[in-house]
Amino acid sequence: MPLHIEDALLERIATAERLVVLTGAGISAESGLGTFRGAGGLWEKVRIEDFATPEAFARRPTEVWRWYAERWRGMRAAEPNPGHRAIVRLQALFPSVLVMTQNIDGLHQRAGTKNVLELHGGLRCARCASCSRRMPMDDALAIATDPPPCACGGIYRPDVVWFGELLPEGALERAAAAAAACGVFLTVGTSGTVMPAAGLIGVAAQAGAVVIEVNPEPSAMSGFAHINLDEAAGIALPWLVEKIEQWRNRSRG
Ligand code: OAD
Repeated sequence: MPLHIEDALLERIATAERLVVLTGAGISAESGLGTFRGAGGLWEKVRIEDFATPEAFARRPTEVWRWYAERWRGMRAAEPNPGHRAIVRLQALFPSVLVMTQNIDGLHQRAGTKNVLELHGGLRCARCASCSRRMPMDDALAIATDPPPCACGGIYRPDVVWFGELLPEGALERAAAAAAACGVFLTVGTSGTVMPAAGLIGVAAQAGAVVIEVNPEPSAMSGFAHINLDEAAGIALPWLVEKIEQWRNRSRG
């Protein structure tokens, strides 16, 4: 099916004050970074309980550190794609844009998005597991291939959120408040299966936002969406931005 938005919904989108975007691994797929679920996904290759929990790090810190170090090298080598860049263009179209991401790759920021809330932390930093002091991951990797020691006696870990951990302080409150107050909620490239991030889609829908989903496959949260753009983010997002720009131009002229 070709991409389509009904006129009445397009008008609501184009005239909204506040836009909130929630992104997941799918937006970085076209930058060459793998997603977690589905055929060939990361969680088919390794087990969450071996690499993405605080218990895994306590049990086997070197393996976990090296796995994240390898992923960081891939992320650092990747470039933002047309999907990331389309989101940057949205900043010029709405008075208020907040991009909440579950991704730890930093590609939204590198594309030029200003207001990014990293719900699952970011891999560009390492954080002491004991005293929470941070240092750039690149500096940590220059020191050793093992997790570097901290002056406090602890060791550094990736500055990301693992399963069983809370989101960074204040992040969920800020995200939920933004979801409840926005006119448009755009969810991109997420399976909608990991709480509490996925729950933000329902928060926005229940508060009356127009919910747009960009995902070539149905997600667990597709039912909340008023508009399902079932295409890759690198195609659907530039198309959406153009639609909004065209509507604005028509309404001006
Ligand atoms: P998933 O791997 O669960 O889902 C990725 C989604 O992206 C799927 O629904 C795909 O259909 C979709 N997708 C694939 N290619 C796409 C493209 N080119 N454009 C748009 N969508 C595309 O990733 P997340 O939902 O981000 O958490 O996963 C959520 C969390 O689970 C992650 O942050 C991570 C993971 O475990 C932690 O590690 C704590």
